Amino acid sequence: MAETDVDLVILGGGSGGYACALRAAELGMSVVLIDKAELGGTCLHRGCIPTKALLHAGEVADLARESEQFGVQASLHGIDAAGVRKYQEGVVSRLYKGLQGLVKGRGIQFVTGEGRLVSPTAVQVGDTTYTGRHVVLATGSAARTLPGLEVDGDRVLFSDHALKLDRVPASVIVLGGGVIGVEFASIWKSFGSDVTIVEALPHLVPLEDESSCKLLERAFRRRGITFKLGARFAGVEHTDQGVRVSLEDGETLEAELLLVAVGRGPISADLGYEEVGVAVDRGFVKVDAYCQTNVPTISAVGDLIATPQLAHVGFGEGILVAERLAGLPVVPIDYAGVPRVTYSEPEVASVGLTEAQAVEKYGAEQVKTLTLDLAANGKSQILKTAGAVKLVQEKDGPVVGVHMVGSRVGELLAEAQLIYNWEALPSEVAQLIHAHPTQSEAVGEAHLALAGKPLHTHS
Ligand code: NAI
Repeated sequence: MAETDVDLVILGGGSGGYACALRAAELGMSVVLIDKAELGGTCLHRGCIPTKALLHAGEVADLARESEQFGVQASLHGIDAAGVRKYQEGVVSRLYKGLQGLVKGRGIQFVTGEGRLVSPTAVQVGDTTYTGRHVVLATGSAARTLPGLEVDGDRVLFSDHALKLDRVPASVIVLGGGVIGVEFASIWKSFGSDVTIVEALPHLVPLEDESSCKLLERAFRRRGITFKLGARFAGVEHTDQGVRVSLEDGETLEAELLLVAVGRGPISADLGYEEVGVAVDRGFVKVDAYCQTNVPTISAVGDLIATPQLAHVGFGEGILVAERLAGLPVVPIDYAGVPRVTYSEPEVASVGLTEAQAVEKYGAEQVKTLTLDLAANGKSQILKTAGAVKLVQEKDGPVVGVHMVGSRVGELLAEAQLIYNWEALPSEVAQLIHAHPTQSEAVGEAHLALAGKPLHTHS
């Protein structure tokens, strides 16, 4: 049996694992990075990147379909599913090549194969044992289903299947109105499908500030996307044409396909974790604020731990672990300060606390909010998008939450994130001049208004 000794052995080459590998190598560590599939993981191959490419193709379709609104005579002849796929795969493959080059360039040994944790310092792949001073677990997550709901990849799909679909379905039922459900509903509607979302909770994207949920729902209603809220799934059967879904209240819905988007769960079973003594809770590897498990030589990052399941959280955790192991000073991540974007049309973007969370933390008397309607923002009017920027402030104190809905508002989060994380006061942000006409002005104007000196809005 071959043995390889290095500083760091990382199991899982997705966002969390490869970010850790890149930073560790930069800091002079020798690194082995192991993955059973391609370097880049879910985000690059089956998640963030390919779905956002589909969403952009959807935006192009919407623009063509609605071009007359702008006085342009274009027309939409249809969606070439193979062409969209080629575009999407082109984006992924360029990024994949770039990432492979980075990993190679930093001298990281990438191993393809199924790894298994065999000791507090070793991972085995086939006949080879890779031993490190430290091991990082980064095996990610997989789509979950409900008891009795079989996902066959043909008529009942997970997002992985939906990404590889060779056609635009005539109709789709989307089970789950969270991030994945809402993004796919948006894509398919743009491509011309009839879409119905079934969500058990009272709102779409239910973790967002309620005002954002309502704005998204209004926009989806206008787009002709149907949604059933507070509706629980009861069962599905195949029909000649596709699927028939029944809800707990007795209603039935029919469509060509059913997408199951009811959350993702950690991949931690049968990998040797518990045998080696790593504490696991409902499948999530337990870690402290520095991503260290109860076994001192083992850390864990990304979707495998119970922190927000976002690629950029994985990047941040991977970097934190690499720096901690290299002996650099590190501080725990403030997860409320991590930006969140649902890339539907319109987008929903937020950072910090929702109004409800702020009221819970500070008390209703100590929370002030301000909502700036995008109707007052020139660039948003040019784009013909509706929505708002809502600020949540600790009274007489800093801004503790920023919530936005509208086309392209995800790009405004960079500033919102600085405002939250630097605990900026509304008066401080109000001093900053924003370029006119940009959508970022909406962030500036919201702060002007919150500081008591509104410009293009009524006081
Ligand atoms: P999710 O947890 O965001 O949403 C699942 C939704 O399904 C919830 O709203 C839940 O109430 C609903 N649901 C659960 N059981 C149900 C039932 N029986 N009947 C009806 N509705 C039911 O999970 P999702 O959308 O699958 O995404 C998984 C993870 O991936 C999330 O943590 C998400 O943040 C991440 N992700 C992030 C993206 C982004 O940042 N843009 C894009 C895609 C995924």
